[in-house]
Amino acid sequence: MPRLFVAISLPEDVRERLGLLSGGVPGARWVDPENLHLTLRFIGEVDGGWAEDIMSALGGVSAKAFELALAGVGHWGTKERATAIWAGVEKNPGLSHLQSKIESSLVRLGLEPEGRKFAPHVTLARLTGSPGARVAKFIADHNLFRMPPFRVTGFTLFSSFLSRGGAIYTPEVEYALLEP
Ligand code: 2AM
Repeated sequence: MPRLFVAISLPEDVRERLGLLSGGVPGARWVDPENLHLTLRFIGEVDGGWAEDIMSALGGVSAKAFELALAGVGHWGTKERATAIWAGVEKNPGLSHLQSKIESSLVRLGLEPEGRKFAPHVTLARLTGSPGARVAKFIADHNLFRMPPFRVTGFTLFSSFLSRGGAIYTPEVEYALLEP
């Protein structure tokens, strides 16, 4: 059964720039630059019939293209027991609108609502046993990180396969946003 999620693919220059942030945190498994993305909705494992319904529901989402700027870094968990570090996103009504359209289209189909508040981020690394002081130093060092905005012209349904070398993400369907 495929494991699905909906995400914004990042332009190559953005992924490369984010890749430069990697390093300096023991216990961090850095995401390969080619795999960096911004998740809009994690769906999880679904069987074949559902996957087709999901694809067509997403095709019915209509939202406008928008500009998106990545800014700041943060972590999940406490500093002493951080589980991930990520790049943040500047407040963005276009992004929130798109995410809520996707969420409501999937809930209308019959998927369980995502209980958690949408916290847009790009996961940079997953952490195991990283010293709190090193996590704190990473956050402090990159506090002023900000990228010029890029235009989000679409979103992507990805499948994810867990292999020994880590997750492999495959774009399954690309959906275009509306240009004015
Ligand atoms: P993350 O980047 O914050 O870890 C593909 O696995 C994407 O779906 C990842 O970006 C991941 O978010 C998100 N994801 C994975 N498992 C999830 C889960 N159980 N609940 C919510 N999001 C999940």
